[in-house]
Amino acid sequence: MDEMENRLARLPGALLPWYRENRRVLPWREEVSAYRTWVSEIMLQQTRVAAVIPYFQRFMAAYPTVEDLAACDEGELMRLWAGLGYYSRARNLRRAARVIAEEYGGAFPRTYQELMELPGVGDYTAGAILSIAFGEPVPAVDGNVLRVAARVGGCELDILDSKNRRQFRRRMEAVMPRQEPGAFNQALMDLGAGICLPGGGPLCDTCPAADFCAAREQGRQRELPVRAPKKEKRLEEKTVFLLLGPEGTALRQRPDTGLLAGLWEYPHVPGRLTEEQAARQLRQWGLTPRAWLRQMDARHIFTHIRWEMTGYLVQVEGLGPADWLWADEARRQRLAIPSAFDQFTRALPAEGD
Ligand code: ADE
Repeated sequence: MDEMENRLARLPGALLPWYRENRRVLPWREEVSAYRTWVSEIMLQQTRVAAVIPYFQRFMAAYPTVEDLAACDEGELMRLWAGLGYYSRARNLRRAARVIAEEYGGAFPRTYQELMELPGVGDYTAGAILSIAFGEPVPAVDGNVLRVAARVGGCELDILDSKNRRQFRRRMEAVMPRQEPGAFNQALMDLGAGICLPGGGPLCDTCPAADFCAAREQGRQRELPVRAPKKEKRLEEKTVFLLLGPEGTALRQRPDTGLLAGLWEYPHVPGRLTEEQAARQLRQWGLTPRAWLRQMDARHIFTHIRWEMTGYLVQVEGLGPADWLWADEARRQRLAIPSAFDQFTRALPAEGD
């Protein structure tokens, strides 16, 4: 057992008695079901507890069961959600409710894999449902829990890195108590929300983990958790050619290694070309521009690269390079064109226009 594990292993013994005495009284804690846990955790994802409470109560009054939610009117649901923000959460709740009603006969799935497949459910929510509603020793690691774990364990891994977050989850999994895993996870949430506050604000004097917390012992509360500044994404500027010929739109295939390997794309060149420079490029490809129909800008963000693109929609004559494909709409729709180009694809005239 390393030092971090040693410290984290003391959390259940300290937090469970503390939680019994100090737990916040909240509507989803007083009456527990998978459905209520799920709805409350989704609401709590981007919203403070105090703001969630009245919404949660109105939601449960309107849709007391997952079947009621599955059958609900989307407009009514949106009105009920108005003010909470992040409306995709509500749409995902309704979509997931339909899956539960139709594929599981209204009984909540009880495995991590099945829960993760529901729209809007990630590892945090799956862990919260399994531990709180079903008593399974599965961690539920959100930003609050990462802060507590990094401080108590004295761990310097960057919590913004998803590999490291998996590592934290494994660490917490290793110390989950078999008894009362739901209480343990909620104790961590309460500790993070009320005592182990971000920045220089933790209330260590009242913390049940104070005796064995590495950050407190070393006076490093401000330094933990570590959040490494995000690396700047590399900017690539491009000029994209949406070329309309008699046989359709020009496409070429990307190389079969690297970014977007093997997918089809509209021809493009590095840099932002003026119309004159673009015309010169067309002639180099053996094409003659006949009509410049439209110019439009688009951007796309990949993990490490940001594309900023100018597109020219041009009617042309000529064949272009031998490895290009001129595809009509039906053919184009069967080719895999990366979503980076969606804005341009949508700007293409429909057949018959
Ligand atoms: N924040 C996220 N989930 C919570 C829960 N179940 N109780 C209190 N605060 C939370």
